[in-house]
Amino acid sequence: LAHDQAENTAGIILSGTGSDGTIGLRAIKERGGLTLAQESAEYDGMMRSAVQSGMIDMVLPAEEMAAKLVGYFSQAKRMESERDRRKREVAEQLSRIAALLRVRTGHDFSGYKDNTILRRIQRRMQVLQIDDPTAFYERLRDEPQQVDLLFQDLLIGVTSFFRDPHAFEAVERFVIPKLFEGRKSDETIRVWVPGCATGEEAYSIAMLLKESAPRGAASPNLQIFATDIDERALEVARAGRYPATIATDVTPKRLKEFFSREDGTYRVSADLREICLFSAHNLLRDPPFSRLDLIACRNLLIYMGPELQEKIVPIFHYALRNNGYLFLGSSENVTRHGRLFSTVDKASRIFQKRSGVAMQRLPEFPLAAARQAPPIVRRGTTATSLREVAERVLVERYSP
Ligand SMILES: C[S@@+](CC[C@H](N)C(=O)[O-])C[C@H]1O[C@@H](n2cnc3c(N)ncnc32)[C@H](O)[C@@H]1O
Repeated sequence: LAHDQAENTAGIILSGTGSDGTIGLRAIKERGGLTLAQESAEYDGMMRSAVQSGMIDMVLPAEEMAAKLVGYFSQAKRMESERDRRKREVAEQLSRIAALLRVRTGHDFSGYKDNTILRRIQRRMQVLQIDDPTAFYERLRDEPQQVDLLFQDLLIGVTSFFRDPHAFEAVERFVIPKLFEGRKSDETIRVWVPGCATGEEAYSIAMLLKESAPRGAASPNLQIFATDIDERALEVARAGRYPATIATDVTPKRLKEFFSREDGTYRVSADLREICLFSAHNLLRDPPFSRLDLIACRNLLIYMGPELQEKIVPIFHYALRNNGYLFLGSSENVTRHGRLFSTVDKASRIFQKRSGVAMQRLPEFPLAAARQAPPIVRRGTTATSLREVAERVLVERYSP
């Protein structure tokens, strides 16, 4: 339903147990639909799991749901018919809203493409049934929790295992074998996946590496650094538990080799999880990893305006070893950086670092406008981020 109807979909969690509903809700939210859960349900396990996952737009009694649905979708229709005027009005509030987000979350969306941000803001306005963008801004200003909800909506992105299968086949053919050439067993093949979301892309690359690695002690070490600013998505990635529907994207052979069945879900094997290190990292704010053999940064640059894209590509050049590879999403490119990268496979967006190009100096961080406020550390998150930072520094410094 989510795939077919996108933002016209609503998902409702009524009384029940388990967490199946949560997985479906993510699919609906990813495609811009609405998600509701029942207040005071007789069996509230499913509802609680859904709320904890951050995928629920509204919790309300069953008898109020019909009116809510009608209100939400009729506002969507109204907004659609007055789309251009609405968009202008919301755009006028955009920099004020971006400032609230910056102060509350420490992340700066001001260099992102306006259209994506405007769509998500309009969606939040529909959920709150607020028509006037100024009133929406005031609601955010007075209720910081609403800023968190908007932030969560801005981040949520579609992903899947072997997304764009032809592109992954090209990586398997042109890139993976090269990474193993001449590598000794005490060396490490290093991969970075910025914007990894819930982990499917990182695990897909991990499978390709494992399949091509020489057996036993002859294999070099494998290390995939997979990063994102969405903490909730990173939690899903670390757990490595995915719905049964991944069977449409992963071959039966790979499902058998790299997954185990757990309560109707597929769990990524410990072997694969061991080589993937998931951590919080903002591409625009934090210095990059280094000495990488491959960077797979797919469907993240499309959210950013040209100014930011211009700055990020040289960072990738800096972060790669000589002749290292860059794998982008199907509508992303490095055309303006022909000096830094040659093309390996245009259709699949695979590029290779040109060696011998003068060493790039890292730009100043944060990359977005230098207007970024320091992050506000929320209670309960410090320990995790400290652990993550320490892990990253240790792995960076001491891994071969
Ligand atoms: C559409 S998803 C792409 C997922 C995956 N790479 C793929 O192609 O299937 C975009 C991801 O980028 C993340 N993201 C957005 N801005 C970011 C930033 N500045 N630094 C790191 N990750 C970011 C979002 O949280 C989201 O998980």
